[in-house]
Amino acid sequence: MSYAEKYQFSIENREDFWAEQAAHIEWFEAPKQILSTDEKGFYRWFKGGKLNTAYLALDHHIACGRGEQTALIYDSPVTKTVKKYSYLALKEEVAKLAGGLLQLGVQQGDTVVIYMPMIPQAAMAMLACARIGAVHSVVFGGFAPHELAVRIDDAKPKVIISASCGIEFEKVLPYKPLLDEAMDTATHKPDYCIVFQREQNHATLQVGRDIDYATLVDQAPEAPCTPVDATDPLYILYTSGTTGKPKGIVRDNGGHAVAMHYSMRNIYNVEPGDVYWAASDVGWVVGHSYIVYAPLIYGCTTILFEGKPIRTPDAGTFWRVIAAHQVKCFFTAPTAFRAIKKEDPDATFLAQYDISSLKAIFLAGERCDPPTLEWLQQITQLPVLDHWWQTETGWGIVGNMSGLEQFPVKPGSATKPVCGFELKILNEAGDELPPNQDGYVCIKLPMPPGCLPTLWNDDERFQSSYLSTFDGYYLTGDGGFIDDEGYVFIMGRIDDVINVAGHRLSTGAMEEIIASHPAIAECAVVGIADELRGQRPVGFVVLKDGQNIDEASLEQQTVGLIRDQIGAVAFYRNTILVKRLPKTRSGKILRKIMRQIADGESFSVPSTIDDPAILGEIEQRLHERHVGNLNAAL
Ligand code: COA
Ligand code: AMP
Repeated sequence: MSYAEKYQFSIENREDFWAEQAAHIEWFEAPKQILSTDEKGFYRWFKGGKLNTAYLALDHHIACGRGEQTALIYDSPVTKTVKKYSYLALKEEVAKLAGGLLQLGVQQGDTVVIYMPMIPQAAMAMLACARIGAVHSVVFGGFAPHELAVRIDDAKPKVIISASCGIEFEKVLPYKPLLDEAMDTATHKPDYCIVFQREQNHATLQVGRDIDYATLVDQAPEAPCTPVDATDPLYILYTSGTTGKPKGIVRDNGGHAVAMHYSMRNIYNVEPGDVYWAASDVGWVVGHSYIVYAPLIYGCTTILFEGKPIRTPDAGTFWRVIAAHQVKCFFTAPTAFRAIKKEDPDATFLAQYDISSLKAIFLAGERCDPPTLEWLQQITQLPVLDHWWQTETGWGIVGNMSGLEQFPVKPGSATKPVCGFELKILNEAGDELPPNQDGYVCIKLPMPPGCLPTLWNDDERFQSSYLSTFDGYYLTGDGGFIDDEGYVFIMGRIDDVINVAGHRLSTGAMEEIIASHPAIAECAVVGIADELRGQRPVGFVVLKDGQNIDEASLEQQTVGLIRDQIGAVAFYRNTILVKRLPKTRSGKILRKIMRQIADGESFSVPSTIDDPAILGEIEQRLHERHVGNLNAAL
């Protein structure tokens, strides 16, 4: 069957299509209903089914006689380590950690926060929770204590699992002080904190609360897999919304397992036993889906890479890993390749490695700029396949389904909707737009398995953020269009979310922090174009009357605030003083125009603007500060 036929079938016969896919995974009890709605009116997949995600990811393969196959390769250029775990070995480690969690009183349905660097124990911790039906919430290691505390207060974990340090290039970053600060600030107090001690830094443990990971695992018995309902939560992953309060995306067990399994064959075109590598971080959705769950559920070998595309030790690292471990399918964010391209534009490192095992490169996490795509195609002569998705969906919404039918690539487009996703471009009024017209990218309900059923403890926000704008549709938050050949072009967010080096951040959250500065009356943070990171935030601030703090001091202080409260990953570097912010007469800040001015894009001045003269001042100030690309605008 062609892609078109499969796709059509998946939309017109959703239940038959997903019943067929669900049959590919091992259930303890088969689902009683393929698609249903719950008491809140939200769609649910595979109700009545019982399974265990860690069983599917580990024990199932052992039962099928593939226990000796390598499940996970830890490749860490920053510690000069390569370590391989077979399915058997990984299962043993996971089952013992799960046993340790049970001893600490963690029960099915309890939450566990995981705050860890890119070490195998991070994946083990996730799988150990899944094994006993506990709900994990991984917090990206680059987040500052404040962000961690916010997540602790929302998830209310019984236990936190962490490590003594992370390693960023050559810097050893102790985690324990960050963790202690977060636990001091958070209102909710977890019972225990399990700490994996790394040799690069030894954390001081607080007697009674902190537990040494190795000691716990050594003495713990292996825990069996707890059967859970398909609709039970597997994890919560917090992601940036438009305010300072992150959204707790819920992922269920059944829909997720089916979607993960389906995507490996049909999007990524791999087979069990193949080596699959997603160079991301377990703190992001790509890490959840494509470092840990999907490759293991599908029986591949996954790679957990603790390094960066460059300077660990050089811009050839990716090629080395691909050659050394015979990677067949590679997935990363465009930023990573922009960094490599900058350091090694002629791909001299690539020539040193045999990457003939590699069949395709997948990109996602941010818009893929055509020059990076074309450079990558040219140096590798491989299919370079952009695909678009988000934390909420957990897997690709639009992509080149290379396991079904690989379409010619159009730079700037993530290709076509993935089976199960009924994509529509709507205008303000909710009418479907014809081809080539820009609008709100929406998914007609129900979304396929794997997508969020709701937000953690916040059904109302789920409804208001995603389902209320257009009746019967999920609002993705992205703008874009579909061309007359059905190719989807995602052009960027229509809300206050930005993407900095593939990291999803909220400008609204940054504004809340900057506005807390005592000298600041109001501010606007916008994401401007950045050659390496895709976007970076810049703040425009207006001082309170009578305040005369100089711009340099203000910048230093606000940069410090963002670094302390969100983290260095926000890459917030510039605060620009202006007399007023551009606003409509009704008081709405015109952030989009500010971004367009900074990016040197043409723009039209809205008739509702309060004072058009302010735009000239913004332009002038950016020019004086050498921020943004003003060439076209000036
Ligand atoms: N833990 C702690 N700090 C982190 C961190 C982490 N996991 N990740 C980044 N940071 C810090 C960096 O150390 C840096 O701190 P500094 O200001 O003190 O130097 C800051 O956050 C900014 O980091 P970044 O924007 O990543 O810049 P960089 O120069 O360190 O690295 C790249 C640039 C392009 C190499 C890097 O951004 C990268 O590898 N990007 C790919 C990202 C990716 O794969 N995303 C996955 C989404 S699918
Ligand atoms: P995250 O939830 O961190 O995965 O970020 C999701 C957001 O990143 C999306 O809503 C898009 O704005 C952006 N994004 C992810 N992948 C792509 C892509 N392939 N093309 C364009 N934007 C993308």
